[in-house]
Amino acid sequence: MTDSFRHITVLLDEAVEGLAVRADGCYVDGTFGRGGHSRLILQKLGPGGRLLGFDKDPLAIATGEALAAEDGRFVVVQRSFAELGDEAVVRGISGRVSGILLDLGVSSPQLDDPERGFSFLNDGPLDMRMNPDAGVSAADWIASADEDEIARVMKDYGEERFAKRMARAVVQRRAEQPFTRTADLAKVLTEANPAWEKGKNPATRAFQGIRIFINNELGDLERGLEAALEALEVGGRLVVISFHSLEDRIVKQFMKRQAKGEADKLPRDLPIIPKAFEPRLKLIGKPVYAGAAELKANPRSRSAVMRIAEKLR
Ligand SMILES: C[S@@+](CC[C@H](N)C(=O)[O-])C[C@H]1O[C@@H](n2cnc3c(N)ncnc32)[C@H](O)[C@@H]1O
Repeated sequence: MTDSFRHITVLLDEAVEGLAVRADGCYVDGTFGRGGHSRLILQKLGPGGRLLGFDKDPLAIATGEALAAEDGRFVVVQRSFAELGDEAVVRGISGRVSGILLDLGVSSPQLDDPERGFSFLNDGPLDMRMNPDAGVSAADWIASADEDEIARVMKDYGEERFAKRMARAVVQRRAEQPFTRTADLAKVLTEANPAWEKGKNPATRAFQGIRIFINNELGDLERGLEAALEALEVGGRLVVISFHSLEDRIVKQFMKRQAKGEADKLPRDLPIIPKAFEPRLKLIGKPVYAGAAELKANPRSRSAVMRIAEKLR
């Protein structure tokens, strides 16, 4: 695996501003990638500040380890941010983290390097794992999943209208020859898609669905948000950048639920609201989108939406 592909950080200044970095604070970058956000956080930290990075991807970890060798305030771990609760306990920072950033999804190097198997444009081995040493590759899953499951994944995670037809085509074709390459899968999906959307490759949605499923992206996000809330100190910030509506819906509903509290579950005439029912988060500002200059410089920022919340208790 080589690392000659670049990642342009999305909402760099906005996200780090959203964290309201304190020089002596302890921060978590749950999606280190190539460290664009992490480097700016480190610039804002003083000698007593700390930053802990997470990533599943071995090339992201290699970049993180190089940064850690240069900067003693930073450490990186190859784990899902879904496990940040355990990591925070082991490191003695549970309930003491000043800010947590999640810049969700895949990085440009993962998408652009055909060898990682995410690309329907450039042929490569059909893999799609952020960590190719763990879990099941897309090729192995497609070889064994039943037709209904393939359709469900494309529909639920890719919002693909023609998921059933596409799944049928995949299952018919694999009976003759297994799928091992991205271009081969993209071709079969493209042929099975009867209504191509303008400006969108006909395999885009199905590929997105498979990628999200293979990496358990939505399950990790749900666990990661709960873990982040526990790990933060009171007054700590949670900043999340999403790239599609399924992610953003989970983030938005989580933040709203935590900002509302559960007082409506109590009898109406109760004189005092028990602490356990009070809100745990306060929403900070409105959702943030990329500005005109960023949209022009980085088309990937088009779909980004960032939400910020602060821990109340
Ligand atoms: C959009 S990129 C982050 C880019 C980064 N902010 C930067 O500026 O370089 C997302 C990264 O998060 C990683 N990732 C996605 N989901 C993850 C998870 N559940 N746990 C750990 N890393 C994850 C991916 O491997 C990828 O490297």
